[in-house]
Amino acid sequence: MSSETLHVAREKLSEQTLHLHYAITSLMEELEAVDWYRQRADDTSNADLRGVLLHNAREEMEHAAMLIEWLRRNEPHFEKQLREYLFTDKPIVEVEHEAMNP
Ligand SMILES: [Fe+2]
Repeated sequence: MSSETLHVAREKLSEQTLHLHYAITSLMEELEAVDWYRQRADDTSNADLRGVLLHNAREEMEHAAMLIEWLRRNEPHFEKQLREYLFTDKPIVEVEHEAMNP
């Protein structure tokens, strides 16, 4: 089985839902890896190991960004939200307020 986290029988899922599932679960795994690497880097007293762990954490961030971009390109609702919230300087809740009260 290529994914252990399906909540519905695989044959009932559309191809698009399955692709999104793979991207979303992969993104979750990448973010979890970032968190775990950073925690271990904080916890080790070995400077060389800390460097490797932080390097790996940064690589996981790259992987996460690639998956977010795939989601943006393949799920229009993600694209809409990402266009609204990313790379703005306003307080985040203000962005939501403006989106809801154009
Ligand atoms: Fe990764």
